Amino acid sequence: MQIINSAKDLDKFLQQSKEINFVPTMGNLHAGHLSLVSEANKYNGITLVSIFVNPLQFAPNEDLDIYPRTEKKDLIKLENANCDAVFFPEPNFAEGAKKLYANSELSKKLCGISRPHFFHGIISILNHFFQLIKPKNVFFGFKDYQQFLIVKDFLDKSKLDTEIHGVPIVREPDGLAMSSRNNLLNPDQRLIASELSVILKNTAQQIHTRNLEYLKVEAIKKLEELDFDVDYFSFCNSNTLEEIDEFEPNTLLAVAVNLGGVRLIDNFLIK
Ligand code: PAF
Repeated sequence: MQIINSAKDLDKFLQQSKEINFVPTMGNLHAGHLSLVSEANKYNGITLVSIFVNPLQFAPNEDLDIYPRTEKKDLIKLENANCDAVFFPEPNFAEGAKKLYANSELSKKLCGISRPHFFHGIISILNHFFQLIKPKNVFFGFKDYQQFLIVKDFLDKSKLDTEIHGVPIVREPDGLAMSSRNNLLNPDQRLIASELSVILKNTAQQIHTRNLEYLKVEAIKKLEELDFDVDYFSFCNSNTLEEIDEFEPNTLLAVAVNLGGVRLIDNFLIK
């Protein structure tokens, strides 16, 4: 596995490589990321993973400084996952990124309400990566469903010949969606965190028999009893993220909570 430490070396590497299947990450890799790598490996060409904690997507009061950084372990996991190359950009990589704005409709819903800077920071850094790499395929997890839609919208409108692939959420045995932030939970919080997906699943199962507003009120009540601070709990259209009050096929149930200061998000797509 080739390790590339600068944009200049990446450029050299790209000159000798054919099609690139690109998996952008912020490191602290878990089985969710590795499922993106294994999906990327199914396509012809080179699987390239980037590891870069992107400062542009964090507001000053957010957890950029404590975001877990585990480079050595990440490299071992990638090697074992048959990744071909890893790109660790220089710390000042983001300074070269042109400031872009994510789709204004999609980016102001759900996570965009409490994190208004977030998706613009993501699109700006991804565009920086994409312009350098010109990937044939890119891979994103459905845990960050809103991110997937926004990147898809960006690529649909760009001149890049890059195809986006969404990959299903990978969950812990107790149902908690895998996330780098799970490592920030203490053992008590970790136990409580498993209830999040249980409540979402129960809610999803009742969607055909109950009214959505009732389900939402009940679920929020349960979450708050468990000490989750609910940022949003939404039933929405899975293409537009527009809030809905009656079930429609492919309803997205999306939620963000804070547990002891750790932000957790999850979603279920209900056919
Ligand atoms: O999903 C992430 O880890 C990040 O938002 C991404 C896509 C690597 C951009 O920094």
